[in-house]
Amino acid sequence: MNNTSASPRAVRRLGIMTAMNEEFRLIAERFDTATSQAVGPRTFLSTSHKGLELVLVSSRIGKVAAAVTTSILIHQYNVDAVLFTGVAGAADSSVRIGDIVVADSLIQHDIDLKGVMGFERFDVPLLGVRQMRCAEELVLVAQEAASKLVSNSEYVRGVGGFTKNLPKVHRGIIASGDTFVCDTKERDDLTSAIPNLKCVEMEGAAVAQVCVEHNVPFVVARIISDEASHEAAIDFGAFVQSAAAVGSELFVRGIISHLVAP
Ligand code: ADE
Repeated sequence: MNNTSASPRAVRRLGIMTAMNEEFRLIAERFDTATSQAVGPRTFLSTSHKGLELVLVSSRIGKVAAAVTTSILIHQYNVDAVLFTGVAGAADSSVRIGDIVVADSLIQHDIDLKGVMGFERFDVPLLGVRQMRCAEELVLVAQEAASKLVSNSEYVRGVGGFTKNLPKVHRGIIASGDTFVCDTKERDDLTSAIPNLKCVEMEGAAVAQVCVEHNVPFVVARIISDEASHEAAIDFGAFVQSAAAVGSELFVRGIISHLVAP
């Protein structure tokens, strides 16, 4: 059960989301002339860049927060494409801290109706979908921006304190769930159950589900902050404090520069 969302020919209004203020801080600073509007507990920033309209928001953590925010972006701000970025935990041994993962599809790893009415593990009931596919054109844009980012000296310096390796770009599956994965067995069980799983986080598949339901093209791309192991909470905290803001801002800037307004 796969699903392909519509591909954007050109993006008119792009919704850009991160989960945490730490990831969002420099993005907001960069667009400091944006118009801001509070909707419940979130602040939506509207601006434009070279004819491309942008709506920027920090969703808060977890699938519910991400789904609500995506729904507001689609219904209240009429975005015609969505980008979600921020940090994630590596799930594959080839993926290291500082690397970038561009999702080609997303799975909710904590949804399981196996044995009920013919459903399999990871199926999203009634949507007819297990893996939610990103728009290929946006995936290619994100891959191109990520390839430039991993050789950007500011980025390499930013993540350099956390890795001895030069950062790399990966493409594959991102799995989301309402849990911070910090246990190697739990992580490895997910990696065995989901072929081509690259990393885990807590929002992307919720954004994907809302976008699929409304036929809005989307892409999710993540910077690796930890290895979802027993050290994950410490690595994640340190990375978020000192590297996530720079990485997210540079990445968003790169992606925007590759998009064209119609
Ligand atoms: N985001 C960053 N690291 C994560 C992890 N280990 N589990 C879930 N979400 C994350």
